[in-house]
Amino acid sequence: MGILISIIDFTLSRINTGNTILYLNLSSDPEIFEGPKGDKQSETYRKMREVTDDCWDGSFPRTNVLWLQYLVDILLLKKSFKRSGKDERDLRSLKKRLNSCNSAKEALSDSFFSDMLVDHPASGIV
Ligand SMILES: *[C@@H]1O[C@H](CO)[C@@H](O)[C@H](O)[C@H]1NC(C)=O
Repeated sequence: MGILISIIDFTLSRINTGNTILYLNLSSDPEIFEGPKGDKQSETYRKMREVTDDCWDGSFPRTNVLWLQYLVDILLLKKSFKRSGKDERDLRSLKKRLNSCNSAKEALSDSFFSDMLVDHPASGIV
């Protein structure tokens, strides 16, 4: 009985197990940061490096916001994503507002998400 959990795609992640911090020193793999200019994923790697100042064992919740902005960009780039002009404007202005967020938790307080979140006593999110 029990559940065995596997974490996948952990390369750019960091976890504090309580005993130790598991992470990769991304600075020892400079190629990660040499992707094409303008490529959203490569640009996000470079922004992560700015935020962390190459200190990959540190906690920098702002990097999660960078990936939320990346997701917004990808949605806006996806031709198959059906959206109205208003949807696009809303996403663009969300992306701008995310610039002032320092964590994904803080980002969730944005009005963009207010209709999506359900008040659940156990969630801790209101
Ligand atoms: C991470 O890698 C860089 C480049 O190889 C090195 O200069 C730095 O000392 C390493 N940091 C740690 C904490 O090992």
